[in-house]
Amino acid sequence: MAEQQDIRVAVIGLGHVGLPTALGLAELGWPVAGADDDAGKAQRIAQGNAPFYEPGLEELLRRQLAAGRFAVADDAPAAVRQSNIIMVCVGTPQREDGSANLSYIERAGRMIAANRNGYKLIVEKSTTPVQTAERLRQIIEEYDATAAGSGAADGRPDFDVAVNPEFLREGSALCDFFHPDRIVIGAASRRAADLLAELYRPLFARLGAAGEQRLLVTGINAAEIIKHAANAFLATKVSFINMVADLCEAMGADITDVAQGLGLDHRIAPEFLQAGIGFGGYCLPKDIRAFERVARENGVDFGILRAVERANRGRIDKFIAMARGALGDIEGKTVAVWGLSFKPGTDDIRDAPSLAVVERLIEEGARLRLHDPYAMPAFRERFPPQMPAVAYAASPEDAAAGADAIALLTEWPQYEKVDLAGLRERMAAAVIIDGRNMLAPAAVRALGFQYHSIGRP
Ligand code: UDX
Repeated sequence: MAEQQDIRVAVIGLGHVGLPTALGLAELGWPVAGADDDAGKAQRIAQGNAPFYEPGLEELLRRQLAAGRFAVADDAPAAVRQSNIIMVCVGTPQREDGSANLSYIERAGRMIAANRNGYKLIVEKSTTPVQTAERLRQIIEEYDATAAGSGAADGRPDFDVAVNPEFLREGSALCDFFHPDRIVIGAASRRAADLLAELYRPLFARLGAAGEQRLLVTGINAAEIIKHAANAFLATKVSFINMVADLCEAMGADITDVAQGLGLDHRIAPEFLQAGIGFGGYCLPKDIRAFERVARENGVDFGILRAVERANRGRIDKFIAMARGALGDIEGKTVAVWGLSFKPGTDDIRDAPSLAVVERLIEEGARLRLHDPYAMPAFRERFPPQMPAVAYAASPEDAAAGADAIALLTEWPQYEKVDLAGLRERMAAAVIIDGRNMLAPAAVRALGFQYHSIGRP
């Protein structure tokens, strides 16, 4: 057993990746200092308030704050100076042209370079295009070279850069942290790989015998590609099943049966074969664009990903066509929208299909009554209630009262429990357009509803 190395972790960026990672590592027993350049967010976290909804996160935050294992540092430089493993979890938003905006990563690199008061292992956790870690290393060496010019850099402490991609899904981030399918470590030196493996040793211990087998140590570029390729493959699976669903619709087959038949093949597996209005969120849409672009910049034509993205964009047109078919003319109709987040279990609306669907329904003259158990505050910032076509409802029943149709866009479990029989009388027309194939067609139709879903007769 390697001697218990002295490990103190800094997590730069306390968003959907950084905060679950920081709290997970603290739970494993390591001292973790978090920092975020949004002072308001940092303060809320220091007070034990999670800045976004994620099951179990706020309780874990309070537990780790009380245990003194997690603390919010005064600022990022302070977090860096008191730590030897620096997890970079800052955002990599996409630019108009689809490329990843790495300015936050580069800023973090320069900040770390300026605060190296000893050996630092800089770990790229954010999802980044391949060779970003290489860029980080260059930034630090450029900094040292400049400092050397001023004579201040003699004996600059050495450092390593490694890649440790996250595979956290929103809505199950903590579950994914403590039960990972794999821990990928991309490192260029034995020292970096050993130190990162040491960091995860308590997690392997929790996972029992199978634990250690989940560790995969690769080169740096491979680790970055694994992350982008994983998300690209998941997005491909979703667009694939959506195309198959459209074929089922045309041929009178049931996509539920077809997806089950596919999923029983262990090489295909049942997950990510749920047909619907497509994938959204902060990751899949931007990651396939960034991956396709990096491939193109390196002379590889990743046409399949352009087709995946085109298919996904087409889901919005499909849903609007379904609404037009169900409502006749959308103009002047009242539509209850159930679900605004990009998927259940999160309040995140980034790149959610609901944004495009709501925009299109408003353009076509509909009046909307919106509901979501968690995402309405975020949605209000994009579609304020002052808009004449927009109202927010306190419950799915309240949204549906007086409506000409219900448009189900996110499969929150509570929508399955709504008493549709009682609701039918309160609606202007008993129509449901199910964008996530959540409800059971026969049962809903037996209650007198006109029911439309995707790829099902
Ligand atoms: C994804 C990856 O799953 C995760 O490993 C990575 O670390 C971050 O990106 P996330 O974006 O949180 O996670 O959500 P995910 O569960 O992957 O769903 C993405 C989108 O695909 C959602 O909009 C969801 O509704 C949609 N989806 C997913 C489908 O339409 N059908 C499916 O079968 C599965």
